[in-house]
Amino acid sequence: MCGIIGYIGSRKAYPILIKGLHRLEYRGYDSAGCALISEEDSDLHIYKAKGKVADLESAAKGKDCSGTIGIAHTRWATHGVPSEVNAHPHVSETGNLTLVHNGIIENYSTLREQLKKHGYHFQSETDTEVLVQLIEYVMSKTGEDLATSVRVALKSVFGAYAIAVIDRRHPDMLVCARRSSPLAIGIVDGDGEFFLASDASPIAEYTKHIVYLKDEEVGVIERGKHLKVYDLNGAETEAEVKEIDLDLSMLDHEGFPHFMLKEIFDQPNVLKDCMQGRIVESPYSHSPQVILSAVTSNRRRLLRARRIVIVSCGTSWHAGLIGKQLLEHFCRIPVEVAYASEFRYSDPVIEPDDVVVAISQSGETADTLAAIQQAKSQGAFVYGIVNGVGSSIARESDTGTYIHVGPEIGVASTKAFTGQVVVLTMIALALGMAKGTVEQDEYEQTIRELIQIPEKINRVLEQNDKIKQLASRFTFAHNFLYLGRGWNYPVALEGALKLKEISYIHAEGYPAAEMKHGPIALVDAEMPVVFIATHHKLYQKIVSNMQEVISRHGRIIAIVTEGDEQVKGMVEDVIEIPETLACLAPLLSVVPLQLLSYHVAVAKGLDVDQPRNLAKSVTVE
Ligand code: AGP
Ligand code: GLU
Repeated sequence: MCGIIGYIGSRKAYPILIKGLHRLEYRGYDSAGCALISEEDSDLHIYKAKGKVADLESAAKGKDCSGTIGIAHTRWATHGVPSEVNAHPHVSETGNLTLVHNGIIENYSTLREQLKKHGYHFQSETDTEVLVQLIEYVMSKTGEDLATSVRVALKSVFGAYAIAVIDRRHPDMLVCARRSSPLAIGIVDGDGEFFLASDASPIAEYTKHIVYLKDEEVGVIERGKHLKVYDLNGAETEAEVKEIDLDLSMLDHEGFPHFMLKEIFDQPNVLKDCMQGRIVESPYSHSPQVILSAVTSNRRRLLRARRIVIVSCGTSWHAGLIGKQLLEHFCRIPVEVAYASEFRYSDPVIEPDDVVVAISQSGETADTLAAIQQAKSQGAFVYGIVNGVGSSIARESDTGTYIHVGPEIGVASTKAFTGQVVVLTMIALALGMAKGTVEQDEYEQTIRELIQIPEKINRVLEQNDKIKQLASRFTFAHNFLYLGRGWNYPVALEGALKLKEISYIHAEGYPAAEMKHGPIALVDAEMPVVFIATHHKLYQKIVSNMQEVISRHGRIIAIVTEGDEQVKGMVEDVIEIPETLACLAPLLSVVPLQLLSYHVAVAKGLDVDQPRNLAKSVTVE
């Protein structure tokens, strides 16, 4: 989950590395470091710090940062506590080599013991340090150059890696490699400058020409030469240069205090982008229709599915729960929703006609990637719903639909969630129409209402100040309950996760009717209970659930449909959202919960965009 950045070219590397680390900091931020080969003394200069990139800048202030080649890293620890000594880059025994790594080396302890027997010493507790020592060991035994030594060393490594390595004796070469963890190489003028990063966001301002290394490929970058890519056996492979189209303004939270608030307010616009070109007017009937290339071009295969299995994690798993209801409602296909981390090790039963849907904002979540690799190995057809263009999950999927909501930087996922739900809605409508399981009237009505959702979200966002004021009265809480039913039950889970991950208040999402089977014992005057009680078929049932909580002095916050006088008569804190179809209600009811969690966390003075212990993209298992 950490962030890697590297540079080799004609400019000073240090400012490029630091700016890149800031762009990648959302991927991990417990410690940071950089390594530069100095132009002054041709030696390796390494600066590291526990804490954020700003702490690294303090550590490097006034030091020799003259090099035009360097690598840097912002860490999310998996092996070894966050500390300066465990921060990357790590250095080899001789001090010649230094390396940064994203991933987990599964067999690091075995390799470490073997290397110790050959006289190698370890400074850190990390798995990563084994890599740089192993490469040096291979180099010393074979006499091979850095690129070959990296290749040979990696053949002994189990686990995930994205690495960048430099040798102070060869300041014109940078070697990189990946397996499971992402790595992008930006190229300027073929051989002028090279930028290496965990994703394209730090590269986009320098070049649009990107090579995404594939699994078990090694990239060899030499100053003034074209990029060369090899497999682990040394065979040269074709470097596929893609052109990215990243709007840099999406990489700044211009005008907003945090990325998360910007991304919450971005939802109306980015959801229009998500639907752009995918909802069109039929040239014949002039009625609206959904056109998804992935559904159209895989129609026969998708129609064969007798079951759909959705695999995802976290917020994307919550979107999957809504996807289940959408696909079962419109397509009448049984749908299972599995935590990817459980699915991958559950010895899953996959039938040849099954379709597996992978939902992932980053497209790099290790558990989800492994789950679809498992499913594919058993013959499943994989449909990816991803935000990260060119990401590992996107490439591993047989087909897919990008959600196109732009880079999501805030660790707490917001616009990606609503983007995923919009795409799932469009898939369910398109597939349902292809299967003939959705009536034309409902099909058109749902599309017409879907088109209205961005504007209706704007109306919810107009209550931001009211929600901010309400949030300030709940910062005392140590526990929250979020209750919903039917379409809104996944939203209750999502609202609880948002609060947990940025305010550090424990929160639990629950089906409202389940409360009486035990959890209602938790309710007292100190327990805020968020009810999602929009006007749909279960409305009166959930109002009864509300009464049960009121009679036990629970403090209710209710999300209701505009004009709901009944709940207003029962509850003090009511947030009204526009009327919409039941199946689209999550797109509106989630927004007040996003804002509530944001404002509670801000009122508590917490780091909303980079909450403790977390990272944006979980590329380790
Ligand atoms: C959501 O707010 C969390 N940051 C986290 O649960 C996230 O949804 C999960 O890690 C899955 O990430 P992905 O969508 O990039 O696969
Ligand atoms: N496993 C390495 C470490 O703990 C890298 C962690 C990561 O990829 O975030 O330092």
